[in-house]
Amino acid sequence: MIELKNISKSYSTGASPVNALVDINLKLKRDEFLAVMGPSGSGKSTLLHILGALDSPSEGDYFLEDINIVDLSDRELSRIRNEHFGFVFQSYNLFPELTALENVTMPLVLAGKPPGERREKGLELLEMVDMTHRLNHFPSQLSGGENQRVAVARALANDPDLILADEPTGNLASSQEEEILEIFRNLHEQEVALIIVTHNPRVGSWGKRLIRLQDGGIVLDSPIAHRFDPTLLPQEEGGR
Ligand SMILES: Nc1ncnc2c1ncn2[C@@H]1O[C@H](COP(=O)(O)OP(=O)(O)O)[C@@H](O)[C@H]1O
Ligand SMILES: [Mg+2]
Repeated sequence: MIELKNISKSYSTGASPVNALVDINLKLKRDEFLAVMGPSGSGKSTLLHILGALDSPSEGDYFLEDINIVDLSDRELSRIRNEHFGFVFQSYNLFPELTALENVTMPLVLAGKPPGERREKGLELLEMVDMTHRLNHFPSQLSGGENQRVAVARALANDPDLILADEPTGNLASSQEEEILEIFRNLHEQEVALIIVTHNPRVGSWGKRLIRLQDGGIVLDSPIAHRFDPTLLPQEEGGR
């Protein structure tokens, strides 16, 4: 589905440029459930932003199916993001002045769907994340885990092929963490591809494939055989 070829990303702030990603080559399949791990500053978020077409690489090619998206305009990239990708962030990024249901249906407003269809889809998604008892609550009235369930429902509004999540459980207690990861596992079973960036081995162990970044490069790419695969064990590192 996705192929990165010789992707590098550098930031030119201050005296010397920061090489956040260095010559990344990566192929992702349609049914991927990928955990991206590595110490703080190793390039995890930068990689996720490039994979999600939120940011463009300094060098290299990014093929989505057979389109090299580095050649596309911002407008075309935004269409690709809306049609193919769903994003989940550590801090939920919900609109504080909108209810749970309104937050979930916002992408459908932007996609021009009629109100009836929006509501129906919103209810279906909130049911999937077990939040139908909180339709009209605002984010400030919900727990962290509940906010993240709403954010996951919103990420699914346009039926994405791929969910990209950056430390999605970083602000959650472990029981809430598990609820989110159960939802991700169900999505994987429904053939949604997932990429989860995390510095937490317990979270990473839910994936089926692990890549580990170090100084902007991939130093490990391995299947995860079972939930507590020893390859995850070198205890990370802290930070995000
Ligand atoms: N917008 C930016 N401007 C300058 N440097 C950045 C920017 N974003 C990230 N970096 C740098 O790039 C490196 C990788 O960052 P990041 O991808 O956020 O790492 P991680 O998510 O693994 O902690 C770090 O050294 C970071 O300081
Ligand atoms: Mg990060």
